[in-house]
Amino acid sequence: MILIGFMGCGKTTIAHELGKKLNKQVIDLDAVIPVIANKTIPEIFAKEGEAAFRKYEFQALSETLSKDVIIATGGGVVTFDKSYELLQAQKEMPVFFLNAPFENLYERIQADDNRPLGNQDIETVRNLYQSRLKKYQALSDKEISTAQPIENTAEAIISFSK
Ligand code: S3P
Repeated sequence: MILIGFMGCGKTTIAHELGKKLNKQVIDLDAVIPVIANKTIPEIFAKEGEAAFRKYEFQALSETLSKDVIIATGGGVVTFDKSYELLQAQKEMPVFFLNAPFENLYERIQADDNRPLGNQDIETVRNLYQSRLKKYQALSDKEISTAQPIENTAEAIISFSK
């Protein structure tokens, strides 16, 4: 299965919870990208820019997609056409859109400084969220709230997948 959604929605946390419950491998694209690029995510944004980051992200996604694993994507994967089309074209894995009220997401995003696009003022980040919302909805088989305990979110995903 593939987890999509905005920064702070809990993709990585939920992916690991699902991995434990379903005994499946978890691949976090944000962990694969620094290996491909040989730089941290903030370094990629600072030294090579967002466009270069999206290409690394696309490479990580394409190398991962066909596997029977749980994939946690980065929040901006839907903004790069090639990645979007790849997600749209694949039919083997269900896609879950994890979502919560924007204020909750923003609060979680501020808890770490590892997200170059998240460390901006609230209105800028809100616009980013709004501009991506339709894409998350269009690409997903099911929207799942993460404004509930992790356990409940994971169970909602598992019961939809049965
Ligand atoms: C990004 C989200 C991040 C990471 C990068 C860019 C975005 O992933 O890929 O900082 O454009 O929304 P998370 O959604 O896991 O924070």
